[in-house]
Amino acid sequence: MPVQPGAPVGVFDSGIGGLSVLRALQAELPHERFVYLADTAHAPYGERGDAFVAARTHAIADHLQAVHGIKALVVACNTATAAAIHELRARHPALPVVGVEPALKPAVTATRTGRIGVMATRGTLASAKFGRLLASLQGQAEFLIQPCPGLALAIEGLVASDVDAAAQAARVEALCADAVAALGSFGDAPGQIDTLVLGCTHYVFAEPVLRRLVGPAVQLVETGAPVARQARRLLAQAGLLAADGAPPALALLATGDPRQLQAAAARWLAAPAGTAQAVEVPLP
Ligand code: DGL
Repeated sequence: MPVQPGAPVGVFDSGIGGLSVLRALQAELPHERFVYLADTAHAPYGERGDAFVAARTHAIADHLQAVHGIKALVVACNTATAAAIHELRARHPALPVVGVEPALKPAVTATRTGRIGVMATRGTLASAKFGRLLASLQGQAEFLIQPCPGLALAIEGLVASDVDAAAQAARVEALCADAVAALGSFGDAPGQIDTLVLGCTHYVFAEPVLRRLVGPAVQLVETGAPVARQARRLLAQAGLLAADGAPPALALLATGDPRQLQAAAARWLAAPAGTAQAVEVPLP
């Protein structure tokens, strides 16, 4: 049976980071049903190899299609997009697929000093896709690149029930401070970094910390809103936008502990209790 406009949109990430994209999707597409899958049993993706992340991406896409009949897929993870988006599109030619990549192009437009900091996972920064993106912008600005191992996982820990919340917040703060110090001097004076790209969807939830560290003059650039607009464009092109007035819905699935996803969704999306459930998505 052909996919109908009333079918849900699938969204996935290694964990809670993609909720920052889901939040933008819900704002842009208030009548859609969403199924969000957090692959927390296999996070963090940024510390795994491309082959593993690609295999997880394909297994999750297949699961969301087979079990939930999704009409479109948003890969709300820079690392998975870098590792697998081309193959994903080739494997599902009829499925609208939206990925995320570090917002280097918008940062070039935004910078005045010409110095742009980029924080992302090791996997994203080491990928051929990111290399091509960087090369395409050569000469347009100076990019300072900072891998942040451990930061996505530390942000996951902010909503874990079994950790000391204050200690975890301090850990996130320390990792952000290390990254910011390694990047250099921030501000809007000549020679300073005036634009910081948050190249991992998890880092959006550390924005208040990063803002404190870099100061008010620096622009923080993330991708939620443009990704949501692209999702709307693709759904409209395919004639698959939900009808105006259709009741929105949200299902939250986690391959790890669903309580962590539930806590994150309650904190950042105001999702009602009892929304998140455990799911198994084995590799074939
Ligand atoms: N949130 C993901 C990203 O945007 C991945 C974080 C991770 O699992 O390492 O890259």
